[in-house]
Amino acid sequence: MVGHFHYVLFGGSVFGLYAGLYHWYPKMTGRMLNETLGKAHFILTFIGTNLTFLPMHQLGLQGMPRRVAMYDPQFQALNQLCTFGSIVLGISLLPFLANAIWSWSRGPKAIGNPWNAKTLEWTTASPPIIENWEVLPVLTEGPYAYGEEPAEVPAP
Ligand code: HEM
Repeated sequence: MVGHFHYVLFGGSVFGLYAGLYHWYPKMTGRMLNETLGKAHFILTFIGTNLTFLPMHQLGLQGMPRRVAMYDPQFQALNQLCTFGSIVLGISLLPFLANAIWSWSRGPKAIGNPWNAKTLEWTTASPPIIENWEVLPVLTEGPYAYGEEPAEVPAP
């Protein structure tokens, strides 16, 4: 139970949160993140997540009760593995924070739409200027033609 919901919550919310930050960082700051630091962050987070939460499944199967402050000695090794995994997760924040702080002032300048994304915010500069559009913009494709070359915009 505890292993399962942490996979759902950590995988679904924390990874989703990171994905959103990586996606919109150029739009918010006008700068690109460093890809190597981003990959280091992902790999450490991936390893840390699995080291922390996978053993919880086995602990549950072995009958460890929930919501206890002290556990029986037979659960110690796997709980220590969870603790080690959470330390890896803590360390994973270092490349992420270093990247976010360093890139904000030193990262390469972001163009308006570095991802070839199709939604409205990517049709303006990064970061957005105060008066974004003089006329209402026309979106010619749905948001899921993601990464494809932009289609020709019909003449008004
Ligand atoms: C390093 C990250 C994390 C670690 C090491 C961790 C560890 C734990 C542990 C040891 C418990 C107690 C389980 C038990 O009582 O048997 C717990 C409970 C819980 N955790 Fe996490 N957790 C982490 C991250 C998260 C995140 C990101 C979320 C939500 C997005 C979350 C949601 C919960 C919930 C809902 C409970 C149940 C609380 C309860 O029983 O009332 N955890 N966690």
